Amino acid sequence: MKRINIGLLGLGNIGTGTYKALEMNRDIIVARTGLDFEITRILEKFVDRDRGITVPTEKFTQDPQTIWNDPEIDIVIELLGGIEPATSFMLEAIKHGKHVVTANKAALATNYEALQTAAKENNVMLRFEASVGGGIPVLNALTTALLANEYEEIVGILNGTTNYILTKMTEEGLEYEDVLKDAQAKGFAEANPTADVEGIDACNKLSILISLVFGQRIRPEDIPTTGITGITKEDINQAKADGQVIKLLASAKTQANGLQYAVAPVRLDRSHPLASVGNEFNALFVTGNAVGDLMFYGKGAGPLPTASAVLGDVIEISRAIAKGSAYDI
Ligand code: HSE
Repeated sequence: MKRINIGLLGLGNIGTGTYKALEMNRDIIVARTGLDFEITRILEKFVDRDRGITVPTEKFTQDPQTIWNDPEIDIVIELLGGIEPATSFMLEAIKHGKHVVTANKAALATNYEALQTAAKENNVMLRFEASVGGGIPVLNALTTALLANEYEEIVGILNGTTNYILTKMTEEGLEYEDVLKDAQAKGFAEANPTADVEGIDACNKLSILISLVFGQRIRPEDIPTTGITGITKEDINQAKADGQVIKLLASAKTQANGLQYAVAPVRLDRSHPLASVGNEFNALFVTGNAVGDLMFYGKGAGPLPTASAVLGDVIEISRAIAKGSAYDI
């Protein structure tokens, strides 16, 4: 049986979830694909941290070059987060002929062209399903099953942390700071929660979506973005009294004067389908000129949901490797 060897950059929350999910579901993945998978090297400095998984010490390395210089490694999974050194590491891996899977929306949104161009030039696959909507396979659907559509609008709840905070503030009347700590403890929030609560994370995800859906490169800094730090208990109660909820929405819509896009807290009537998307769940409404309205819904954050999307990408690439067609066209 062909074995796919994987180099993993980062054994934090999502890296640990990915390692765990592969161990947990190895048998069904092998049965479904006829391929075996092994994470053979892991770039991580905290070797002894208790993660609830058993990782042989010899898999750890402190030197990223040992990963892209390893001729046995087929795929590099980048789960370091942050723009650098993650982008440079992905580019190096690509230049060394490795296929790359990442969940890193900040690196992708900032360096989209450089990463895509490098992947094309080096005939490798770059996949990033987990970067938008966590476990929801929305990028896959938008770039395959829905390709026959002209897209008119996308509106999404794309950040689990802020949705969790707004939900708890609404349902339990809690203060913003208390809920944020809880979200961090559950592993939804970024190490620096500013990116979540200021809307930057949702903005990065919207930038990636716009590239795929509307074929336009809109840099994150050009997307008008407002987070939820200014939302008070009083705002929440006022919305409630008016039969509404406050949600952080990321949207893009084609209009006569061009594409309009923004990330901002918006009041939604309780009857709106996005109003009932609670906690760390994400959702994306898509309107296509043939399919009409669609809504994707699922867990947008957390180690195992994100791992589900990461491993889906790994499997897609591995099948292509096995068929000899692992290059992007
Ligand atoms: N911090 C992100 C969120 C993680 O809360 O949605 C998933 O991208």
